[in-house]
Amino acid sequence: MEILSSLIREINSFKKMQIKPCKGIKGSITVSGAKNSALPLLAASLLVEELTLENFPFLLDTLYGLEILKRLGKEIEINPSEGWVKIGGEIEDITVPFEISSLFRGSVLFLGGLLGGCGKARVSYPGGCAIGSRPIDQHLKFLEHIGASLEVEGGYIKAQLRDEPANQNFSFDLITVTGTENALLTLAGMEGEFILENVALEPEVGDLINFLRRLGVRIENDGRILRIISPGRENLRKSLTYKVIPDRIEAGTYLVLGTLLGEPLKVKNLNPDHLGVVIQKLTEAGANLKIEGDTITVWRAETLKPLYIETSPYPGFPTDMQAQFTAMLSIAAGTSFIVENIFENRFQHTFELNRMGANIVIKGNTAIVKGVKRLRGAPVKATDLRASAALVIAGLIAEGETLIHHIHHLLRGYEGMDKKLQKLGCEVYLIR
Ligand code: EPZ
Repeated sequence: MEILSSLIREINSFKKMQIKPCKGIKGSITVSGAKNSALPLLAASLLVEELTLENFPFLLDTLYGLEILKRLGKEIEINPSEGWVKIGGEIEDITVPFEISSLFRGSVLFLGGLLGGCGKARVSYPGGCAIGSRPIDQHLKFLEHIGASLEVEGGYIKAQLRDEPANQNFSFDLITVTGTENALLTLAGMEGEFILENVALEPEVGDLINFLRRLGVRIENDGRILRIISPGRENLRKSLTYKVIPDRIEAGTYLVLGTLLGEPLKVKNLNPDHLGVVIQKLTEAGANLKIEGDTITVWRAETLKPLYIETSPYPGFPTDMQAQFTAMLSIAAGTSFIVENIFENRFQHTFELNRMGANIVIKGNTAIVKGVKRLRGAPVKATDLRASAALVIAGLIAEGETLIHHIHHLLRGYEGMDKKLQKLGCEVYLIR
């Protein structure tokens, strides 16, 4: 399995990204599989003996997920050029170690994967990150409610399921994506019927639901209520091949770029149904978009208009698109208001954008973005995944060169962005 560790080493060897100004982009760019779908599907591989995932995105977070599966005893085969991974074999260990789980948030999903797969787990408490404290109280409240024995010791959560759930329904206090996914992964392995209420409806949750249905779990959804009927882990399908949905946030990131520089830019391999509010907001900003099947062609806005944006759970405006829109609106013809309702600290990119000449003031959970004529390239630092995407966008529209430090944040969540942009003629280079 040296391919996996050498791929992780190779990607981690890059420290910075150099970006030169770009006057316009004409051509097409292809979206990879969704990181936030591939991660719960990797955890779901613990429910089966043999799983092939196609349209798999090779980026740091998913590679760390494969590392975890290796530690749990699974056999891994990867094929980056053809875009698939194969995961087979039995669970031989139930511990997700701190040194890997602390590298990314998605590690929390292996709690649900292990409980669904074998009824017990010992997972290092996932840390917080730049955008907020990222608590998992809802994940643990669900497990307590179904009667799991839970113990937190030495920074590890030790959980053990009972044969029968102690209750037949649970309602989340707030909408949580990985909280919903962990509950689904756990219940998939437990025989019986269960009702989950106030669930997240992100397309990545939908992808996991479709996957579990293919395994033989009956799942009916009525708005934010799910009825789950599982035959029990022994009676699930043992092997299958499953294709990961396109990454709507990567697609949205490139649509923002097209709104600024598209002459036109074709963004391919996306699902427009997952991008409703993003398309609406880009159109409001003045972009000219043409939707044809799995491709959206975007022409740059003649005049970039300011926007009012509030982030909210799907199908609302995605918090994962907030930083990219903030970068775009920093040169709009007017003042924009961006309200971040999901995470308590997701405006770090604004301080870096201001170093590039933007005029952004933070008031509570609102960014007031006064459009300026142009941004100026500068050395900046990436603080989290989507903040780094915002800085790449800013670097391409700025005057003068930009150098982004701590570029591993970007490499955690975007597959080959440098190569994809170079193919469009952009001067964007990863530096060691
Ligand atoms: C998922 O994170 C995504 N990550 C995030 O994407 C995304 O920003 C987020 O959902 C919201 O859409 C993955 O899917 C791997 P939450 P998650 O639980 O599940 C609070 C990216 O850029 N909360 O929906 O961790 C929480 O603090 C990443 O790809 C609790 O209070 O987010 C936050 O304020 C960043 N208690 C809100 O709920 C809990 O038990 C939403 O969090 C759980 C969450």
